[in-house]
Amino acid sequence: MALSQQRQEKTQQNFFLENELTLQYAVAEEVMQLFAPSKSLISIEAKMGVQTDTLVDDFLSAINTNSDIDFNALVETFSDSQVPINPANFDNYLDYLANNVINHSIHTSSPRFIGHMTSALPCFVRPIAKLMTAMNQNVVKIETAKAFSPYERQALAMMHRLIYNFSDEFYTEHIQNSQSTLGILVSGGTAANIIALWCARNKSLGAKNSFAGVEKEGLAAALDYYGYQGAVIIGSELMHYSFDKAADLLGIGTDGLIKIPTNGNNQIDLPALHQAVADCQSKNLHIIAIVGVAGTTDSGNIDSLLDIADIAQAANVHFHVDAAWGGPLIFSEQHRDKLVGIERADSVTIDGHKQLYLPMGIGMVFMREPYLASSIEKNASYTMRKGSFDLGKRALEGSRAGMALFLHAGLHLIGLKGYEFLIDTGIEKTQYMAAQITTMPEFELLSQPDINLLLYRYIPESFRELAVKKQLTETDNQQINRFNERLQKSQRQAGRTFISRTTKTISCLEKEISVTALRAVIANPLTTKDDIDAVLNDQIQIALDLLISDSLEATPSLA
Ligand SMILES: Cc1ncc(COP(=O)(O)O)c(C=O)c1O
Repeated sequence: MALSQQRQEKTQQNFFLENELTLQYAVAEEVMQLFAPSKSLISIEAKMGVQTDTLVDDFLSAINTNSDIDFNALVETFSDSQVPINPANFDNYLDYLANNVINHSIHTSSPRFIGHMTSALPCFVRPIAKLMTAMNQNVVKIETAKAFSPYERQALAMMHRLIYNFSDEFYTEHIQNSQSTLGILVSGGTAANIIALWCARNKSLGAKNSFAGVEKEGLAAALDYYGYQGAVIIGSELMHYSFDKAADLLGIGTDGLIKIPTNGNNQIDLPALHQAVADCQSKNLHIIAIVGVAGTTDSGNIDSLLDIADIAQAANVHFHVDAAWGGPLIFSEQHRDKLVGIERADSVTIDGHKQLYLPMGIGMVFMREPYLASSIEKNASYTMRKGSFDLGKRALEGSRAGMALFLHAGLHLIGLKGYEFLIDTGIEKTQYMAAQITTMPEFELLSQPDINLLLYRYIPESFRELAVKKQLTETDNQQINRFNERLQKSQRQAGRTFISRTTKTISCLEKEISVTALRAVIANPLTTKDDIDAVLNDQIQIALDLLISDSLEATPSLA
């Protein structure tokens, strides 16, 4: 090769190499800028903050519940799976976010979005969220969460005290005792229920004599050692599906979850529960726990917790209360009686992201007995050592964020009286909605509200007389079901208002049948009685439009 050609190739190589290096340098500089402490970067971070604040303001002030974009079309916009090579420009990325994600996200804070637990949040959670992510504590161990660990324990102890109300001495002894666990902060009610039943299983099938415990030897060995034919968990048929997950994970299988029928008010049938306990005992089945539900997922009704506590106590079985929904009634003088018996529970689940008005990702499980959670303790040599203060040693999750900031802040910035106000007004508005429904011929109320949830359905005009006389047949109900399903879907698509949908068992000419129910959740403090009327009137209008389009199409119609 001629020398000049060699030189030329070398120069070309250098050119590409230099270019590559410049590019890499530019990327490195851009990426490193993203990590610089905020004071040195006032321009970038402040600019990003102002831009996102504007988007947040627009999002929060929207009245419609969502955009009417077709969901399949929306899905199509997310079909590229390539990672971008170079860092994107923030402005461009924000535009992308605004156009594709934010514009089509659900306005959970709209006062007319009254179909799910997600609702408006108090304004302090937004700066607190910024603080939490900026501090980036990992609450698994004190080496990454020095102040956060005792701080979280304090917030949980405050909640524990509201449930169990033990003496000052009790709380002084246990609040910051590394051997005691009054509660565990988790991502939601599902994890809370799983942990409660995990503790119940490990405690009841623990180490004894030559047996090292279910935790070490597994369920088959435990049942063999204790001489049981199997193990079960018992609760109402309306238990949340997280109990199916728990039964699966704990090794008893979902068949090991015994679901007891409920009465007309969606509460566990107590004679049937008695009978199930006796049946299990006679079949030599180990009952890991009996579950009471304080606020069923669909209609918010509360089991008779005192009676269940008696049954569990007589059978010497762990009593767990799933108060994911109804737990915050402990803040209300007027309504806390509905939870009587909860103080006898061995464990209690409460969701912060339901009626405590905290952001998604906050659940809690509380233990009556401060040493119960030692039955699930795990240690590791680099962290969570035996006897340490590390919260991760008694937890399902490993690394987790300092979500206690929200709980602790909520308990202080809203306080006992503030939460009482929120709970009382939520229930009062739900009762208002129930009363409105009973006066409107278009609707039928399907559940009497205990808390802030209720079920009802739309009755097309041609069925109203039969509905009032309780003479609807199963076929009539099937047609009404189909109509309610269409109504709910059309309402969701139109996006002016929102109510969710579920099923409910009702008696129909002496037979139990499942009907489609509309489900209201009055969880937003901004929802007024006018908003509730607007939602009901919107449904009436949508129903009329559907009936008109049915008759125009001349399909076999309901009209
Ligand atoms: C009664 C009940 N328990 C548990 C859960 C599970 O809670 P999460 O969705 O927070 O895991 C729910 C959810 O709605 C619920 O209604």
